[in-house]
Amino acid sequence: MVKEDRKAELSFPDGTRYELGVITDNMGAHSIDISNLRKDTGYITYDPGYMNTGSCMSSICYIDGEKGILRYRGYDIEDLVLNCDFIEVAYLLVKGMLPNVKERQEYTQLLNKHSLLHVDMRNFFRSYPHGAHPMAILASMVASLSAFYPEMEERDPEENIDLTVTRLLSKMRTIAAFTYRQDKGYDFVEPRYDYSYCENFLNMLFSSPVVDYHPDPVHVKALNQLLILHADHEQNCSTSAVRLVGSSEANLYASVAAGCCALWGPKHGGANQAVMEMLERIIGEGLSVEDVVAMAKDKSSSFRLSGFGHRVYKTFDPRARIAKRMCQEVLAAQHKEDRLLEVAMQLEEAALSDEYFIQRNLYPNVDFYTGIIFHLMGIPQSMFTVLFAMGRLPGWIAHYLEWRHDPYQKIGRPRQVYSGPELKKVVPISNR
Ligand code: SDX
Repeated sequence: MVKEDRKAELSFPDGTRYELGVITDNMGAHSIDISNLRKDTGYITYDPGYMNTGSCMSSICYIDGEKGILRYRGYDIEDLVLNCDFIEVAYLLVKGMLPNVKERQEYTQLLNKHSLLHVDMRNFFRSYPHGAHPMAILASMVASLSAFYPEMEERDPEENIDLTVTRLLSKMRTIAAFTYRQDKGYDFVEPRYDYSYCENFLNMLFSSPVVDYHPDPVHVKALNQLLILHADHEQNCSTSAVRLVGSSEANLYASVAAGCCALWGPKHGGANQAVMEMLERIIGEGLSVEDVVAMAKDKSSSFRLSGFGHRVYKTFDPRARIAKRMCQEVLAAQHKEDRLLEVAMQLEEAALSDEYFIQRNLYPNVDFYTGIIFHLMGIPQSMFTVLFAMGRLPGWIAHYLEWRHDPYQKIGRPRQVYSGPELKKVVPISNR
C-alpha cells in the first residue's frame, strides 16, 4: 500500500526549515512529496529530463533498473512472453487483469469487428509521396481517426471509452499494414475474421494474389512476443507524451498520435532502425567491432552504440535477453545463420568487456536485437518503429485511462529555471 510514512526536511539559506512528506511505494521505493513546495516556500525543483521526478502514481508497470526487472500489472515480462499472446497482454494492461477464455473470445470478436478502416481514410494513403516515413503516416492517420470516429468528443467520453479503445487497438494494426502496402505500391489486404491479431498483420503485409502465402507460425509466435516486449515501459518519453497531451482532456486518438511522434525519435523508438543501420554499416564498410566500440567511446564524435544504454536500466534490459533468445530461435527454425546477428553478438561481447561501457552501466536494451528479428521476418527497417508503436499502444492506452481516472491528476504544466534577459524596452523598427 502506497503510504506517506516518514518526513524529510529542507533547510534554506536564510535558516528556515521546511518539512516534506516522504511516500513509500509498494516496492519500498521512497519519493519526496513536493506538490506544495512552491506554494509554501516559493522554491521549485530543477530536474532536466525528469530523471529524479515522479509525475504520477501508477499501478500499470514496475521497473527495477538496477536489478533488470520489468513487470506489467505485477506479472514478470518473461512469464508473460512464455504464457500469453499479445491480445491477452493488451487486455491485461488496459483492463487490469488477464482475460479468461470467454473474455478473450469476446475481445477478439470486438477487435475483428473494428479492424476495417473507413473507406475515405484509405484515400489519404495515396496522397503521401513515395518514400514518406511510415511514422509520419501513422501519426497523422491515428489523429485523423478522431475525425471519423468522434464518439469521445460528442457524448460522455466514458460511455464510449471501451469502444474507442478497441477500435484504436484494431485499426492501428490496419493502418500499419496499409502504410507498408502503400510504400510498396501494392493493393491493400483486408483483415480476415479467421486470423489472429498477429497472423492478420503478417497476412496484410505479405499476402499476394500470385503467391500461396500463409503466415509462418514461427514468425507469428515471434511477433506476439515482440509486441509483448514493447507493450509498456512505465513513464518513458512517448508514454509521458500521451499522459501530458491527455491531461488537457484531448481525446485518446490525439494523445496516442503525440506518443507516436515522441517514439519516432532515434533516442527512443527509432533506435531499432538505427541498430540495423549501424550493423549494416559495420558489414558494408568491413569495420571491426573494436573499431566501432572505439568510435562509440570517442567524445569528439556524435556516434553512439545504437541499442546500448538506457535511462533506467543500469544492467541488462530484461527484454534484450528475451529478444536475443528469440533471434536464435527464429534463425534455428529457418536453419540458417545471419551475419547481422553474428556481428551484433560480437559487438555485445566487445562492449560488455570494455571499461568505458562497464563503468557507465551501458548494456544492450530492447532495441539491440528486436530489429534483427523484424529483419528475419522480412519487415523493412522503415517499419520497425511502427511495430514498436503497435506494441506500445496498449501501454499508452492504459496510461491515458489511468490519468483520466486519477482524482489527484491535473493538467500537466512543469515550471522552469529562467535563463533569459531581464526587462528590455522595444526600440521602434525605424531606429533598430
Ligand atoms: C528506448 O525510457 C524507456 O523506457 C525507453 C524504452 C521504452 O521501452 O520505452 O526502453 C525504449 O528508448 C530504449 C533506448 C533506445 N535508445 C538507444 O538505444 C539510443 C542509444 N542510447 C543512448 O542514446 C543513451 O544510452 C540513452 C539515450 C538511451 C540513455 O541516455 P542517458 O541515460 O541519458 O545516458 P547519458 O546520455 O547520460 O550517458 C551517460 C554516459 C555518457 O558518457 P559520459 O558523459 O559519462 O562520458 O554514457 C554514454 C554517454 O556519452 N552513453 C553512450 C551510450 N549511451 C550513453 N556511449 C556510447 N554509446 C551509447 N549508446
